[in-house]
Amino acid sequence: MGDQPQTKSDTPELSTHQVQELSVADIDDLCDATDAAILGGGGFGWIKLPAREILERYWRGVLAMPSRMLFVARLDGVICGTAQLITPPRNNEAQSFTANMTTVFVAPWARGRGLSRLLVESIEKAAREEGIGVIHLDVRESLETAIKLYESMGYVHCGTNPFYARIDGKIIPGRYYYKVIDPALATKV
Ligand SMILES: CC(C)(COP(=O)(O)OP(=O)(O)OC[C@H]1O[C@@H](n2cnc3c(N)ncnc32)[C@H](O)[C@@H]1OP(=O)(O)O)[C@@H](O)C(=O)NCCC(=O)NCCS
Repeated sequence: MGDQPQTKSDTPELSTHQVQELSVADIDDLCDATDAAILGGGGFGWIKLPAREILERYWRGVLAMPSRMLFVARLDGVICGTAQLITPPRNNEAQSFTANMTTVFVAPWARGRGLSRLLVESIEKAAREEGIGVIHLDVRESLETAIKLYESMGYVHCGTNPFYARIDGKIIPGRYYYKVIDPALATKV
């Protein structure tokens, strides 16, 4: 008996990167991943599946907004997760060194392979390149895997809002986190 040939499915290719444009197929994959994440219970603000054209418009809108940087995760080339970095408006000079990481999710079928960690690392790298020193984020307290991920990556829990979100009629708390990604900033407080 010889060695089994190594097929692509034995070692799936993982990647994350920023996107400035998306093909029709990519938008379709992104919408499929969003649907899966919403049905899986963590599709950022959406609780019920929006119509496909609304989702497509949402993603095209994200691409068009200068204050949003869109990142995707791919498994064997197929988009299966995403995250965004939002920079403050130009008039907010006082917070121009900060940015907000939001809408981090990986479709249930692609989870457990390290893609969310790669997504967050890509965001942090791009943020540093943009001169951002601090990343903020907030997360529902019920999203325990996400909380573990952020805390393991050095995000500091700095507050809790007991009235953070309403899911199926129930008010649930949310947590706020920050991470200093520019070490020079740490000496300036
Ligand atoms: C949170 C989420 C993004 C993680 O995505 P993922 O690609 O499966 O995560 P990774 O494979 O990169 O794993 C990240 C860490 O979480 C751990 N983890 C992954 N799945 C887990 C699970 N089901 N239970 C416990 N820990 C888990 C991993 O062990 C890993 O830690 P390690 O690197 O120390 O081993 C994904 O579960 C998700 O989309 N959840 C719903 C949406 C959500 O919570 N978004 C965050 C909103 S702010």
